[in-house]
Amino acid sequence: MITDLFGRTLRDLRISVTDRCNFRCPYCMPAEIFGEAYQFLPKDEILTFEEIARLSNLFVQLGVNKLRITGGEPLLRVDLPNLISQLSAIPGADDITLTTNGYLLAQQAQQLADAGLHRITVSLDSLDDEVFKQMNGRGFGTRRVLDGIKRASDAGLAPVKINAVVQKGVNDHTIVELARHFKSSGHIVRFIEYMDVGNRNGWKLDEVVPAAEIVARIDAELPLESADANYVGEVAKRWRYRDGDGEIGVIASVTQPFCGDCTRARLSTDGKIYTCLFATDGVDLRGPMRDGATDSELSDIITGVWNVRRDRYSEIRTEFTADENAGDLRPKVEMYQIGG
Ligand code: GTP
Ligand code: 5AD
Ligand code: SF4
Ligand code: SF4
Repeated sequence: MITDLFGRTLRDLRISVTDRCNFRCPYCMPAEIFGEAYQFLPKDEILTFEEIARLSNLFVQLGVNKLRITGGEPLLRVDLPNLISQLSAIPGADDITLTTNGYLLAQQAQQLADAGLHRITVSLDSLDDEVFKQMNGRGFGTRRVLDGIKRASDAGLAPVKINAVVQKGVNDHTIVELARHFKSSGHIVRFIEYMDVGNRNGWKLDEVVPAAEIVARIDAELPLESADANYVGEVAKRWRYRDGDGEIGVIASVTQPFCGDCTRARLSTDGKIYTCLFATDGVDLRGPMRDGATDSELSDIITGVWNVRRDRYSEIRTEFTADENAGDLRPKVEMYQIGG
């Protein structure tokens, strides 16, 4: 086990397998910036599955037990089940999961489960087709995503979690409907406070609906009680329906930061390690690896990066936002490069 400057261990690795996406959510990849001519990473700059598996193995030896595949949209990466098989063969990789927009999930769910994926999280910001069309930036309706959720559940990828980013005036009038729809399904809806990730979404504090308000609005119609975390450092706060018919989660990175327990590292599509979702820079692992670094040399780089980690961005965000309400102006890594 390795620890950072605040005594936090390294337990989770989020792995981005592509920087491309078939959606253009305005809060992540606004269509006016990410048009047809936008240059995503060329193939030779993207880690191969063998490289990802090798690094994952080293991370697991350093204490990681949870691997989460992200993107961009991870299901766009060709032959993804092959990577899942390689990761599920790593002793100690106890929790292997994936976050997807669900558009290509129906056709891939069974293969992913067969390859060893344990569970899945599907982003779905609203059940209202018009709201959803606007929020995915591509005019796609909800049907394929709902179908994907059903197929994932049938394939045993449980519990299925549903992520909804809540933006004031955009989809917050549809949160109760979303909670109600999945209430007895066994799936867990998590409402996420809209965050100032990256540099391109023009985030403003007044577009955030505080988690306490989200909970209050749902509780008014579907009574809730708070539930204990499943494990120390769980990102979502859990709320159970009082009638025993399921639970929801809220992810309150803005109003109730959880940096104190943050055990997450991110591996970007091009092989850099980032120690915070809001980092400005990562440390390159791909270069040394392709130059012939040994496992022990690569582990030393990871350990060195983690040992000097002092990130707590969400806790200090207010210093950046207090005055002009315009978010942090440092150039941060983008969501689609490190997958959230
Ligand atoms: P579980 O393993 O199911 O608990 O998943 P998770 O909530 O860790 O992962 P998921 O990909 O579903 O992320 C949910 C939301 O939380 C996304 O919006 C992420 O960007 C955000 N998130 C995850 N980890 C962090 C973190 O360390 N810091 C911040 N600020 N947000 C995070
Ligand atoms: N704020 C909060 N969540 C976000 N996501 C993407 N961009 C943001 C943002 N600006 C969510 C996605 C996905 C998860 C990985 O992060 O919708 O569910
Ligand atoms: Fe794609 Fe997810 Fe970003 Fe939306 S939030 S554009 S689905 S990577
Ligand atoms: Fe961890 Fe950075 Fe998120 Fe804080 S803001 S919880 S340090 S990733």
